Amino acid sequence: MKKALRWLGIALLLVVAAGVAAAAYVAVSPIPSYPVVKVDFPVDVTPERVARGKRSVEMLCAGCHMDSATGGLTGKRMLDLPARFGEAWSRNITAHPVKGIGGWTNGEIAYLLRTGVARDGRYTPPWMVKLPNASDADLRDIIAFLRSDDPLVQARDVDSRESKPSFLGKVLCRVTFKPFPYPARPVAAPPPHDEVAYGGYLVNSRLLCYGCHSADFTTNDDLHPEKSAGYLGGGNAMPDIGGKLVPTANLTPDGETGIGRWTAEEFRRALKEGIRPDNRPLRYPMVPFRPLADEEADAIFAYLRSVPSIRNKVKAPEAYALTGDAGKQVYYAYGCNGCHGDTGEGQYDLRRGPLRYPTDDELIAWIKHPERLRPGIIMPTWEGVIKEEEYPPLAAYVRSLGKPGPAAASVPAVAR
Ligand code: HEC
Ligand code: HEC
Ligand code: HEC
Repeated sequence: MKKALRWLGIALLLVVAAGVAAAAYVAVSPIPSYPVVKVDFPVDVTPERVARGKRSVEMLCAGCHMDSATGGLTGKRMLDLPARFGEAWSRNITAHPVKGIGGWTNGEIAYLLRTGVARDGRYTPPWMVKLPNASDADLRDIIAFLRSDDPLVQARDVDSRESKPSFLGKVLCRVTFKPFPYPARPVAAPPPHDEVAYGGYLVNSRLLCYGCHSADFTTNDDLHPEKSAGYLGGGNAMPDIGGKLVPTANLTPDGETGIGRWTAEEFRRALKEGIRPDNRPLRYPMVPFRPLADEEADAIFAYLRSVPSIRNKVKAPEAYALTGDAGKQVYYAYGCNGCHGDTGEGQYDLRRGPLRYPTDDELIAWIKHPERLRPGIIMPTWEGVIKEEEYPPLAAYVRSLGKPGPAAASVPAVAR
């Protein structure tokens, strides 16, 4: 008996030692690399492709890769990544041949976007978007845009910063998240006139709504999104850049807890302008999908009507305390901080606004309808949402965040 116990003790020790060794190995190793398969992915860059690709890039890539300071997709810190996963920086994906992706082939870009593996074999962590089910045509559009002379992607001599994943982040990239297979055959999307099928394609394959709106990232089935746990039933709690949790909404047709009672118009407004039927703004990380065509929004709605209902009452997002002067309170009450942070810099920098719009009338006009000056901008339309008497204090507060100094002279009246 004693002998048996001793052996058991030794066996346990060995198991613990193996565990420690494995942990130490993961801790010192980078995120794993994988073999890269060369794929041929011809793209003819036509103006139509570039225009469609621009809309996709605005909705799918710019949120993470756009740096307000350069006005291009030069990369920035992912402020909403919880610290337990480490520090992540998106990269320069402008056409710069060395610092950007100007030197990548179309095949290398397509391979990365579908599998998650970069051309040197590095696996890009889960916080870089993957499009394993997107159609060849959609990928061609995106790549055509990345090759265009649009200011967002013009070559910029800006170094990318290296991400510093934590131990947990690296474990996730070894155990939970792995590269997706590159499809063996061409992939086509359903035709737009097949409304429900096309909407499903947008939700599952192009815009990845299911990714945030199902139960949890770790239980999503990214190759077969409909098989994800709690598919589109919401409740995946996402931190905003202030660290407050914002659970995703239930998008199934349940009348009580989902969007079963919404009309197509209400849905279109929420999706494209960021405002709910009861006039409450949607909080970051839900950003307006403004570049969507109305028909696309309607197709998404038709599809969401067709998915199985889930009764799941999602918790309200964590609120911010409203303190300070009236303007500051308006700023937090409507969630401007979700995108612009506490200082105005945030994910998207508003600090040039006061310089571009020197009078309150101009600044307020911009806040009410940002899309009139920048079509496609992923900022909500605030006209009719913020009360008229709240605008002057809000404008004064935004001005107090504005960038002081000589930059004023060099700021164009309308950017991009
Ligand atoms: C949720 C944030 C996020 C989104 C959305 C996103 N990316 Fe990224 N991307 C990242 C991060 C973070 C990295 C760096 C990953 C790493 O540390 O290896 C990255 C890396 C890349 C790289 C590799 C560059 C290199 O030099 O290795 C390319 C190319 C890229 N992204 C293109 C895109 C495109 C195209 C889109 C839109 C279809 C997109 N990304 C959407 C966050 C994002
Ligand atoms: C990055 C994660 C993310 C993605 C991607 C995303 N959403 Fe959301 N969405 C959220 C969060 C978080 C909320 C909750 C916001 C709040 O409570 O203010 C939300 C809320 C909503 C709402 C409001 C519903 C309600 O009952 O109030 C709708 C509608 C919606 N999303 C539709 C979509 C559609 C359609 C897509 C794809 C085109 C999409 N979302 C993609 C995170 C996301
Ligand atoms: C869903 C994200 C989002 C929310 C919420 C949001 N904005 Fe913005 N805002 C943006 C983006 C994106 C830009 C463009 C940033 C850039 O040019 O880099 C912007 C730019 C601005 C600018 C600067 C305009 C310029 O020309 O440089 C001002 C001012 C501004 N926002 C005010 C506000 C106010 C006030 C609120 C709240 C009532 C608000 N925003 C809420 C996304 C948002």
